[in-house]
Amino acid sequence: MQIFHTHISEKSKKLVNEVLDSTFISAGKMADEFELQLEERLGLINPVTVNSGTSALYLALAVAGVSTGDEVILPAQTFIASGLSILMHNAKPVFADIQYATGNIDPDSIRSKITAKTKAIMPVHWAGYPCDMDEINAIANEHNVAVIEDAAHALGATYKGKSVGALSRFTALSFQAVKHLTTGDGGALCCLNAEDLYQAKRRRWFDIDRDNAQPGILGDREYDAVSVGYKLHMNDLSAALGLGNLDDFPDTLKRRREIAGHYIREFKNVPGISLLEYRDDRECAYWIFTMKVEKRLEFIKKLRAGGIPASIIHLRIDDNSVFGGITPGLPGQEKFNEDQVSLPVHNGLSDDDIETIINTVKLGW
Ligand SMILES: Cc1ncc(COP(=O)(O)O)c(C=O)c1O
Repeated sequence: MQIFHTHISEKSKKLVNEVLDSTFISAGKMADEFELQLEERLGLINPVTVNSGTSALYLALAVAGVSTGDEVILPAQTFIASGLSILMHNAKPVFADIQYATGNIDPDSIRSKITAKTKAIMPVHWAGYPCDMDEINAIANEHNVAVIEDAAHALGATYKGKSVGALSRFTALSFQAVKHLTTGDGGALCCLNAEDLYQAKRRRWFDIDRDNAQPGILGDREYDAVSVGYKLHMNDLSAALGLGNLDDFPDTLKRRREIAGHYIREFKNVPGISLLEYRDDRECAYWIFTMKVEKRLEFIKKLRAGGIPASIIHLRIDDNSVFGGITPGLPGQEKFNEDQVSLPVHNGLSDDDIETIINTVKLGW
């Protein structure tokens, strides 16, 4: 049994081979088609494919105009990539508290951290459970700052009937190896506004307006880069892998929700376990299944002895030296950091595996 699972469909293998045979392996038709299908099948708005989730965050910050001295508010309950993407722009990550009930950023804490230097808010949908996006977008509108959702865990999640990827000015997705939908490495930046979409497409590829810059008389493309552009695009090999996996995505998501449903029913009265809060107005994508557990170390040891890879996926990131040390006054974060444990919830688990997990947990630790 493994904590994560990498799904590669037969169709993916076929499409990747087609790209290899064609020798057109950089960004091209597959990447365009993948963007189209992500939009049509998953309800994402204007997904711009890139080579990682980190690149999607980095690109969003660039398009939002975040630069030296600006502040970006985010939770510490995330992977280090979220905070590093801000430092890459010489901006300052400002860590807000999380809700102990969900592991997600607390809108009240965001309010208390807003200053004249705040340029963006970066909520992270912990384990795939959507943050309080109405409240967060309301704060952003009030203060005229951008919202960049870090939805690395949340492909397929919904909030009030809408897909994550259709809610805020920017949403960054990850298609890294162990995510719900993989392209090997890869990501996408969803942009609600046409101008952001235009800028994101230009700046992911050297600030060249690829859609409109035609090859000139000597054969080279004529262009005028007006901003600093980067090389962040997704190539066709990755896109083929993702495109081939898209057919299976609805089943993947269904299975994850089914397994999570079993856990929730079976664990809700187990002494020593508190489940996270799940509200009716949003659907979790369940990248992992996080709960809060008393005597966490004993719990993890007991499960691992039974071959179950219980784990702590990401501890708070603000204590990394690169961020200048731990942020004081985040009580929700402190407590969550001490109690959180995650279980596998992926579609590589058999029914027997799930029974083993449930029975082992119920025997106590
Ligand atoms: C919350 C979060 N944000 C961003 C990333 C970065 O994504 P990637 O590995 O695709 O760059 C990850 C990666 O797992 C993540 O967990």
